[in-house]
Amino acid sequence: MRFDLSFSFSFALAAFSLLSFAEFAESSATAPPDKRSPCKQFSTTFSSSSDVSSTEGDAPFVAISPEGTYAVTDAGLRLDLQKPQGTVTSDGETNNVLGQGATVNSTFIYGVTTFQIEAPSVAGVVVAGILIADDGDEIDVELVCGDPTHWQTNIFAPQKTDQETIFGVFGGVETFADKSDSLAGLHNYTVDWNEDRIIWSVDGKAKRTLKPSQTVVNGTEHYPTGLARISLGIWDASSPVGTSDWGKGPINWNKAPSTISATVRGVWLECSS
Ligand SMILES: *[C@@H]1O[C@H](CO)[C@@H](O)[C@H](O)[C@H]1NC(C)=O
Ligand SMILES: *[C@@H]1O[C@H](CO)[C@@H](O)[C@H](O)[C@H]1NC(C)=O
Ligand SMILES: *[C@@H]1O[C@H](CO)[C@@H](O)[C@H](O)[C@H]1NC(C)=O
Repeated sequence: MRFDLSFSFSFALAAFSLLSFAEFAESSATAPPDKRSPCKQFSTTFSSSSDVSSTEGDAPFVAISPEGTYAVTDAGLRLDLQKPQGTVTSDGETNNVLGQGATVNSTFIYGVTTFQIEAPSVAGVVVAGILIADDGDEIDVELVCGDPTHWQTNIFAPQKTDQETIFGVFGGVETFADKSDSLAGLHNYTVDWNEDRIIWSVDGKAKRTLKPSQTVVNGTEHYPTGLARISLGIWDASSPVGTSDWGKGPINWNKAPSTISATVRGVWLECSS
C-alpha cells in the first residue's frame, strides 16, 4: 500500500465541488470560559429534507455542490457523483474529466464524531467523512471504494515551520471489525479526538490510536488542534495520476452507473467533557 500518494481533503475541496456542513456551534460567548471549544452536541439521521439546505440558514448542513448532487431519502443523505457531461476518455491511469460530487460543516474542537456510511463499490470513487479546520488541520475517514476490505485514516496539520507539505506520512489503512465486512455495508466510522490522542473506530472497535508524539516531523508536532467542521463528500479520484493510483481509479464510466451514490445514514457528534 502506498501512502505517499494520498492527499489532503482540503486540496480536494479546492479542486472538486462538494456539499458543505453549516455551522451549528454555540457562539463563543456561551461556551464555558475555560474552553476553546464551541462544541454543541449534535446528531441527525437525515430523516427530514430540512436537514440539508442549498442556502445558508437554520439547516445543519449546507449543500455547496450543485443541484442534483445530493438527496435526503428515507435511507438517509444520499451523496451522488455524476458522470461528467460528454465523452470521458481514459488513458488507463486517469480520466480526462472528473465527475462532480457532494460535501456537507459544524465548528468544534475535540469530540467524538460518528459517521454512519454505506459506500458504493466503484473503483476510482472516494467517500470521505472528515473534520476540517480553516487553518488546514484535518482528521479523515476515507473510503477508497476500489478497496472493499479496508478503510483509511489520515491527518493533516500543516505547521508554519514546514518547508514542504507533508503527504502520506500519517495515513493508515484499517480493517473492519469483522473479516467478512465490506465497505459496501453500513458501518459506523468514529473519530474520537482530544488533545492527547485520536482514536479511529469502526462499528465500535478501536482500530488506530495516534498521539501527538507520533506526529513529529523535523522536531515539530503535526497534530490537529484547529477548530474543525464536519464535512461529508463523495468525489471522483480519476485524476491526477497520484490520486487515481491511490483511489484505485480511474472510474470506468463504461461500466459504472452514470450516478454513483453513497448514503450517509447519520452523523453523531458528542463533545468532549
Ligand atoms: C465548509 O467548510 C469548508 C472547508 O473548511 C469551507 O470552505 C466552507 O466555507 C464551509 N461552509 C460553511 C457553510 O460553513
Ligand atoms: C524536514 O527536513 C528536511 C531536511 O532539512 C527537509 O528537506 C524537509 O522539507 C523538512 N520537512 C518539512 C515538513 O519541513
Ligand atoms: C452506530 O452508531 C449509532 C449512533 O451512536 C448507534 O445508534 C448504532 O447502534 C451504531 N451501529 C453500530 C453497528 O455500531
